Amino acid sequence: MRTITVNASKEYSVKIGNGLLSIMGEQIAAVVPGRTAAVISDSNVWPIYGEKAMKSLENTGFSVCSFVFKAGESSKNGETYLRLLNFLAENHLTRSDCLIALGGGVVGDLTGFAASTYLRGISYIQVPMTLLAMVDSAVGGKTSIDLPAGKNLAGAFYQPSLVLCDTDVLDTLPDAVFIDGCAEVIKYGILYDRELFAHLETHGPGFCREMVISQCIEWKKNAVMQDEFDIGIRRMLNLGHTIGHSIEKATNYTISHGAAVAIGISMISRSAASTGICQADICQQIDALLKQFGLPVSTNISLDILVQYALADKKRSGDTITLVVPATIGCCKLLNLPISGLKNFVKAGM
Ligand code: GLY
Repeated sequence: MRTITVNASKEYSVKIGNGLLSIMGEQIAAVVPGRTAAVISDSNVWPIYGEKAMKSLENTGFSVCSFVFKAGESSKNGETYLRLLNFLAENHLTRSDCLIALGGGVVGDLTGFAASTYLRGISYIQVPMTLLAMVDSAVGGKTSIDLPAGKNLAGAFYQPSLVLCDTDVLDTLPDAVFIDGCAEVIKYGILYDRELFAHLETHGPGFCREMVISQCIEWKKNAVMQDEFDIGIRRMLNLGHTIGHSIEKATNYTISHGAAVAIGISMISRSAASTGICQADICQQIDALLKQFGLPVSTNISLDILVQYALADKKRSGDTITLVVPATIGCCKLLNLPISGLKNFVKAGM
């Protein structure tokens, strides 16, 4: 097992290794004072892992209640959020107790946002059950729900008390869900890490899991510790996400997050190459790796729709929007564009 310590507004450990689910009770008991826990999960994860999680918690002396909702991004909304808050109140969770997010990014984001507001703040533990959640959403304290106007538009920065990444659970992930998470792994290679990018080129989806997941979390930790509240260099982690979120919204979230981010990364790289920000071979290398993983690199959604939704994105600030663009493999830049220039920039990457 590897342990990475994140030192942000709260200090906490991220543990990565096999078998963590069966010892989650003792791991959690060490970081929270209360002995009542609410496990939040979804209809995909709960039937497979719910019992194991409950057993581990109950064997450690926790009294446990569970809140399970329909899997999918369409559940990450105000209605589920309020139902969850009411559930916590009805089950008398107090400030010394904790919430446990047992699931992927949707479960983690929703649980974290409920934790940040229930009783003005209660501890929560992230137990990410997808690759995507392990390398990205479970670490760093971004919590949110979606609004009808767009993804993640209501939320809070609120750090978990512990993150447990049990690599064994990746064995039961459907291939498509595993590959989806690979888009975020590839993102770290493009952003920071030429060696990671090369490792992925050599090994494809058979990459060394514990090592790669840990390396991605190290990169994420660095960004979060320098810029917890996302006003500076943490924004680099949004590579591919502005267009990616537009694609998700335009497809009513029927496309997966990783696939949308892969298209976003590919398009922004082509835009960067056609405007001289990077060499053409950089965007070819990026596309080749995304395709090697079976990830998509283009969309037939119209330019107008992509731009319209991108302008509703959080990354817009007044009359400018900040995009992350690759300069080379392992090094990206923040590009501030006037919103009047966005359409031509995106068009260059279509
Ligand atoms: N998912 C990007 C971030 O946590 O900043």
